[in-house]
Amino acid sequence: MSDSNRLIIFDTTLRDGEQSPGASMTKDEKVRIARQLERLRVDVIEAGFAAASPGDFEAIRAISAAIKESTVCSLSRANERDIARAAEALQPAERKRIHTFIATSPLHMKMKLRMEPEQVLEQAKLAIRCARQYTDDIEFSPEDGSRSDEDYLCRVLEAVIAEGATTINFPDTVGYAVPEVFGATIKRLRERIPNSDKAIWSVHCHNDLGLAVANSLAGVMIGGARQIECTINGLGERAGNTALEEVVMAVRTRADYFKLQLGIDTTQIVAASRMVSQITGFAVQPNKAVVGANAFAHASGIHQDGILKARETYEIMRAEDVGWAANKIVLGKLSGRNAFKERLRELGIELASETEVNAAFGRFKELADRKAEIFDEDIMALVSAEDHAQEGEHYRFVSLAQHSETGETPSARVVFDVDGKEYHCEGKGDGPVDATVNAIESQVASGAELILFSVNAISTGTQSQGEVTMRLSKSGRIVNGLGADPDIIVASAKAYLSALNKLHSKNERLNPQQ
Ligand code: KIV
Ligand code: ZN
Repeated sequence: MSDSNRLIIFDTTLRDGEQSPGASMTKDEKVRIARQLERLRVDVIEAGFAAASPGDFEAIRAISAAIKESTVCSLSRANERDIARAAEALQPAERKRIHTFIATSPLHMKMKLRMEPEQVLEQAKLAIRCARQYTDDIEFSPEDGSRSDEDYLCRVLEAVIAEGATTINFPDTVGYAVPEVFGATIKRLRERIPNSDKAIWSVHCHNDLGLAVANSLAGVMIGGARQIECTINGLGERAGNTALEEVVMAVRTRADYFKLQLGIDTTQIVAASRMVSQITGFAVQPNKAVVGANAFAHASGIHQDGILKARETYEIMRAEDVGWAANKIVLGKLSGRNAFKERLRELGIELASETEVNAAFGRFKELADRKAEIFDEDIMALVSAEDHAQEGEHYRFVSLAQHSETGETPSARVVFDVDGKEYHCEGKGDGPVDATVNAIESQVASGAELILFSVNAISTGTQSQGEVTMRLSKSGRIVNGLGADPDIIVASAKAYLSALNKLHSKNERLNPQQ
């Protein structure tokens, strides 16, 4: 197959995905996900938006130092300061890309930027000239492209390619596009812009109408785009972005139609999906294509019978090709430190120091005392929950006693620690979790609103650990706390304290699209 059939997979889980309310990640979590994306062999990792916050800057820098195969990219608005900051963060990267954007729709230019179209055009050209000082790999996005005037887009895109932009990304920022129109627009733009062949064309679709994957594939097949921007599990602003696993498996499964070549190692998809879900606390719906727990489950007798006779009767993909393996009992009470360390390595979890390995091993032993079989998912949850806990840990869970009985009001006593001092608190509530949260709030009085509470069984069976996500909102900030424990009330207390810790740490993030 010729190069013109190579489809570039640009993952923006760590940038656009992180813009989902509550999905913010720590630097270490981002590095872990970036390493998994590299194992998945994505071509480009958009690691963040360097100028948005010192935290984003540091995360991009750490990812740039850690990643060797994929290109590392930073988003930046179309101004010199943002671009210089992106370049500085990307400095250690072996392969780097600066992705600069400016809005081009009449609505965004007038209401958001308060700029005239001619000023926006000049600013876009200036941005590319500026980025060229740092790298030859420059991507340009006309934000809200799908609602922009086509003649004007032709002028802007021709000008930025002439200045040296090597990738032109066409975003459907608000998820407004429909496939045929979206694909045909890109096709016309490529035909009308005289130097369009000097750049690779890309698509970036949001899922507000549930059309992100369809629009992306139309952009490729009708429009001739050769890069898709996407996120693991379709994470992203509002209804999310194009789901990586869906476009990749569509292109691979229907190779007869798409005739495109991918660099992706699809066997790493499920591991990436689980990692992102555990770190962000965004559970994957069971019927989600490719990565949902039911994606390969067959319940009806006719289907089961068919599958047993010939798998292809009801399966278009093989579960193992996307990384579904039977739950493995990896370790138990008697497993040693070396076996634990080796399993961490196989799961792609790299802890920063031997001290951290020792601490994680200690927690593993505690868990193994209470739970006979430890699965991969337990280990990942253990590390994720600890990462969440470490984020400026102010409140530390110590213990919990809880009572509930039919006909009685449930009550809870919680002990937590702040700077070495223990606080004991009590509460009652409609249920044991409510009582636990009320107990903590009787002491903390955070004033935060609980906007999401979810419990997920990490593995199968009633002996499974419960993984709890608590999402809190306060003064416009939304944070996710995660807790895991075989006792789901304890997991809830841990998750609530972890969310309070995030509210307590003042790590603010700017929304890059504002
Ligand atoms: O949705 C969007 O327009 C974006 C751009 C910054 C590419 O995320
Ligand atoms: Zn976007």
